[in-house]
Amino acid sequence: MTIDPDQSELASRYRRFAFQEASGRSPLYEHLAAKAAEDAAIIALIADLPQPKQQPNLLFAAYRHILGVPSDYSEFRRGLTDRFDAVRSIMLERSTQTNEPGRCAVLLPVLASLPQPLALLEVGASAGLCLFPDRYGYDYSSKSLRPPKGAKPYPVFPCRAAASVPVPDTLPQIVWRAGLDLNPLDAGDPDAAAWLETLVWPDQEERRNRLRLALGIVAEEQPTLVQGDLLGPEFEALCRQAPQDATLVVFHTAVLAYVPSTADRMTFADRVSASSDVWICNEDPSVMSQFSFTAVEAPSQGAFLMSVNGQPTAWTDPHGAWIEAIADVETSVLSSAGGRL
Ligand SMILES: C[S@@+](CC[C@H](N)C(=O)[O-])C[C@H]1O[C@@H](n2cnc3c(N)ncnc32)[C@H](O)[C@@H]1O
Repeated sequence: MTIDPDQSELASRYRRFAFQEASGRSPLYEHLAAKAAEDAAIIALIADLPQPKQQPNLLFAAYRHILGVPSDYSEFRRGLTDRFDAVRSIMLERSTQTNEPGRCAVLLPVLASLPQPLALLEVGASAGLCLFPDRYGYDYSSKSLRPPKGAKPYPVFPCRAAASVPVPDTLPQIVWRAGLDLNPLDAGDPDAAAWLETLVWPDQEERRNRLRLALGIVAEEQPTLVQGDLLGPEFEALCRQAPQDATLVVFHTAVLAYVPSTADRMTFADRVSASSDVWICNEDPSVMSQFSFTAVEAPSQGAFLMSVNGQPTAWTDPHGAWIEAIADVETSVLSSAGGRL
């Protein structure tokens, strides 16, 4: 059986996932996606799902949710074929809301360089784990930072920071925080927490342990997480709630890829600029091509581009494992203040 020509783009998507996203990060996911990309019967099963639900990440997480971690492709193929209805219903019901608190390590140099204290508003917050950069520890190449003694057990995020990145000596002072999401998750809900853990790739045990510690902190803190679309009225309403005497930082990481329309992303950018003091956008550079950000060469495939108030400022690892400055972080921030400063 050969791949149906109508499904060849889907097969390519699984191949790209194997060799561009999973390669070097998860040998198991690389193996599963590479094999699935050549398997006409499996591609036909996936093609039957609505297009936004055909993601490799979602398929593998839904499979693991029902059947656990497969040891190889033959086990995966057998399980998926036998239990496709159950896997399919998880895929339809849930989405890839992967919440990666390690991204705080690349946000921190910008956050710490701003006038303190800060009010943080995260758009596309999932369970809100990135709203607590002041509650985690960090091991950068040149120095380490830890929360004050007596803090609840916290994860420590390793991050290779290039010499050009101003790694702070202290954690930022955050006096207000809130998140907005289409489907906010409650870190204290065991089912939501289990799904977030399943979204971490199987070969990444340390990442999963750090996620668990972050979930413990956020479950206790119960941040304000509002349900709404980033283009809906909830966004401006939340901005208005932030205290006037704090620097209002609106940020988002790994969210705009879920907003397919360029016009919608532009409208969102205009609204953030008008309503915040500082806008941090940490996303795949392709979603920002309308701002001409792609002129800067990415240091590696899949790198995120962090821009501050519309200025390309750093290349970052999508999970926060490294950061390389493009422009001077402090200059970027100060030369391009947003609507409230
Ligand atoms: C991949 S997760 C990233 C979560 C978090 N920002 C992080 O970096 O860990 C993307 C999140 O964006 C949310 N999202 C996608 N489109 C959205 C929209 N139009 N408005 C609000 N939230 C959205 C999803 O529900 C999901 O929780």
